[in-house]
Amino acid sequence: MSLLEETQPTDLEQMVGFTRRRFIGAGALCGAAMFLGGNLLSRSVLASSIEAANSALLGFAPIAASSADSITLPAGYKASVLISWGQPLHHDSPAFDPSGQGTAQAQEVQFGDHNDGMSLFPFADDSNRALMAINNEYTNYRTLFAHGGQPANAQDVHKAQAAEGVSVIEVRRDAGGAWQFVQGSPYNRRIHGNTPIRLSGPAAGDARLRTTADNSASKVLGTFQNCANGKTPWGTYLTCEENFTDCFGSSDPNQAFDAGQKRYGASITGKEVGWHLHDPRFDLAKNPNELNRHGWVVEIDPFDPESTPIKRTALGRFKHENAALGETGDGRAVVYMGDDERGEFIYKFISRDRIDHKNLSANRNLLDHGTLYVARFDDGDGHADKPRGKGQWLELTHGKHGLHAANGFASQAQVLIHARLAASHLQATRMDRPEWIVVSPKDGQVYCTLTNNVKRGEEGQPVGGPNPREKNVYGQILRWRETGDDQGAMSFEWDLFVVAGNPGVHPGEAKGGSSNVTAQNMFNSPDGLGFDADGRLWILTDGDYSNAGDFAGMGNNQMLCADPATGEIRRFMVGPVACEVTGIAFAPDQKTLFVGIQHPGETGGSTFPEHLPGGKPRSSVMAIVREDGGVIGA
Ligand code: FEO
Ligand code: CA
Ligand code: CA
Repeated sequence: MSLLEETQPTDLEQMVGFTRRRFIGAGALCGAAMFLGGNLLSRSVLASSIEAANSALLGFAPIAASSADSITLPAGYKASVLISWGQPLHHDSPAFDPSGQGTAQAQEVQFGDHNDGMSLFPFADDSNRALMAINNEYTNYRTLFAHGGQPANAQDVHKAQAAEGVSVIEVRRDAGGAWQFVQGSPYNRRIHGNTPIRLSGPAAGDARLRTTADNSASKVLGTFQNCANGKTPWGTYLTCEENFTDCFGSSDPNQAFDAGQKRYGASITGKEVGWHLHDPRFDLAKNPNELNRHGWVVEIDPFDPESTPIKRTALGRFKHENAALGETGDGRAVVYMGDDERGEFIYKFISRDRIDHKNLSANRNLLDHGTLYVARFDDGDGHADKPRGKGQWLELTHGKHGLHAANGFASQAQVLIHARLAASHLQATRMDRPEWIVVSPKDGQVYCTLTNNVKRGEEGQPVGGPNPREKNVYGQILRWRETGDDQGAMSFEWDLFVVAGNPGVHPGEAKGGSSNVTAQNMFNSPDGLGFDADGRLWILTDGDYSNAGDFAGMGNNQMLCADPATGEIRRFMVGPVACEVTGIAFAPDQKTLFVGIQHPGETGGSTFPEHLPGGKPRSSVMAIVREDGGVIGA
């Protein structure tokens, strides 16, 4: 029985690789599955059902953990570098300088550092051409500067700002079928820490966003700390500003921070980034409101290199991980978002207006009008293996639920700028660091990585529901199904798809993980997520790669592939030494998988990917193919 009926995509949907699906009967089947999957389902029964499933969806042989400084893949797969940090984007861009002597101006026209989330945008009229928008989250001063330390002057700060943001590049499939970066394409573009950006939506123009440089509160310089991403059905890219607060500090050692500044982590020293010492824009004593101009989702049109990116304030301000697009039953846009900090929240935005699938440009300002919600999860059934329960979406609208002036929320702008405070006022559920969220293309269920949270108990966050561990070193993946399979619903049912753990070190204990974790597939700190068109769930990790203690036997960070129906998880790829595996995109035919290797050798020990004697490691985007040209993972 099929859970869905696929409708014919319109030309415009095909252009942006978007397929509409109507969900049929999923509610009834899910209800039965949830009953069977509850307390009645023992660990051994579930384990044998996983084995019995044995891969209707997963067609590769799983690989062992590894601590090698290389990419490890299943037999029959191979990886090549698509692009690496510092690669020149235009014909006249300076070449990468591994000495660290390269200038800020050079970095502004080279591929940025520490690539993270990314999306592929195929050309409508040429299946061998596509654009890729790729986040450049942050940088490593050990490799960025010849002196290897914190920025020593304004030029150094400028170079660090140039290394972050977004890179848009063209890629083409060559005669042999391999996707290659196109140096010199007119679409190649850098958006970085000093690029002019427009503020729009309900908070634009608000006094809290005014600075001496921009009294209109509508023009911002730069986006930085760009973690993960989203891709809209109307063909634009969303880049998400995460640890923006790290870039700010204060020249006043006695500066007192207000509740809003504190909640977003403002500090005198900043977090080892050092920008405020040489760029007064980041000095909270001089420009306190500059902090409020960051922490947003930014929309970019990759096909117009002259376009001004736009910060969409209606989606709220927090430490954004990614933005997962969905659609309500009546055709409005949904954006799921996580706030990656211990004890922070999961949000959902629903647009006021419907998506126009026939006239894509009509959606240009769709994300400026709508309603933001935050999730509250109930305590669940407490099941030892994979708890499950129900939840609700709480509306973050000024004037509702006590979000009014007497409680410190004078306007909708203030609710959005201080979304964390507003969500706390509504008693939303404090989560174990929400990272990526993805929506299944098969049944519309939503998956979210809760990467870890070692201080849940220590910081007084309630233990239970989808956050079952007091000291959570391994993380879990949460899943929910919106009521009526309508992403516009105000309630949902949730379960934990996997609770990570180490059954080798902690056999038979809660720290051993849920029944679909074995000594052969174990991992920690799930972070990136991606669905391919066939419904395989790809899991990317950003965890402890010590391969010792609680993490013995896990090796380097890795990418796994799961069958959502059976819960089976297989290790597909292991990354090089001291890297994070993050960022995932598929070619439309699913025969090339693009995956990001971020900060290999962040603390030394790697020369990935070139392996030159004494060479520097470089963050890179990899292209993975099958030697027989088949579909990845099948
Ligand atoms: Fe940039 Fe929460 O990872
Ligand atoms: Ca992440
Ligand atoms: Ca992470």
